[in-house]
Amino acid sequence: MTDYAGRLRLGVNIDHVATLRNARGGAIPDPVRAAQLAEKAGADGITAHLREDRRHIIDSDIDRLMGTLQVPLNFEMAATEEMQKIALRHKPHAVCIVPEKREERTTEGGLEVAREENKLAGFIAPLREAGCRVSIFIGADERQIAAAHRIGAQVIELHTGAYCDAHAEGDFETRDRELEMMREMSAYAHSLGLEVHAGHGLNYETVTPVAAFPEVVELNIGHFLIGESVFLGLEAAIAEMRRLMDAARA
Ligand code: PXP
Repeated sequence: MTDYAGRLRLGVNIDHVATLRNARGGAIPDPVRAAQLAEKAGADGITAHLREDRRHIIDSDIDRLMGTLQVPLNFEMAATEEMQKIALRHKPHAVCIVPEKREERTTEGGLEVAREENKLAGFIAPLREAGCRVSIFIGADERQIAAAHRIGAQVIELHTGAYCDAHAEGDFETRDRELEMMREMSAYAHSLGLEVHAGHGLNYETVTPVAAFPEVVELNIGHFLIGESVFLGLEAAIAEMRRLMDAARA
C-alpha cells in the first residue's frame, strides 16, 4: 500500500454512484468501478456508508470493495449491532461512526458522544481490537471531542456541513464563524493525540480553507465529486480536487 505520510489524504466517497444505480435498480453505474477509477485518479482512500435502509451502498458493494480495493476502505456506519457485525466480518482499515436518522436526506450533524460515552466506549472496543482505526464523525465542539478521546477513538472527522451550507447560502458571517470553530477544534483534537479528518459538503469553493488547517490529515468528499464527474469525468474531477488540496497546503 502506498505510504502518503505527510500529504493531505483524499478519501473519495462513492455512495452517490450507488444512489444513481439504485434509482433504476440493476447494476449500473457500478460504485466499485468508480472506486477503482478514483484510485487511479489519486484517491488515497475510499469511503462508503452502509446505511440501515441501504439507500445507496448495499452489502454486496462492501464485499466487492473489500475484495478489490488497493487503498484503504473507510467504512461509515451507525452504532448498531448489525453494522458492528458487518464491520467485524470485513475488518476494514477504518470505521467511521456516524449518527443516522432514517428520515434525513444526508448525515445532518455530528455524533452525540458525551451523553452516550459508556455505550459508545463498549461499542468501539471490539472494532479497535479487530484492528480497525475508529473515527467519530463529530461537530466542532470541545465537549464532544473530549468525550471521543475518552472513549478511545483514534480519529475524529469534523463535520464541515454547516460551514458549507452557510457558504452556499451567502451567509459569510456564519461561514467564517464555523470555519474558526473548526480551526480551533482541529488544534484541540490534535493536542489530545487524535488524528483529525474533515468532510461533508466540500466542493472546489469550500475545500481550500479546511485543507489549509495543518492538523487535518484527511478529507472525505463525495457528493460534489460524483456530481462534477457528470461534466468533467471522475478522474478529472478528482484531479482538480487534489490540485486544490495540495495548493492549500503549499
Ligand atoms: N464524511 C462523512 C462522515 C459523511 O457521512 C459523508 C457523507 O456520507 C462525507 C464525509 C461526504 O460528504 P459529501 O458526500 O457531502 O461530500
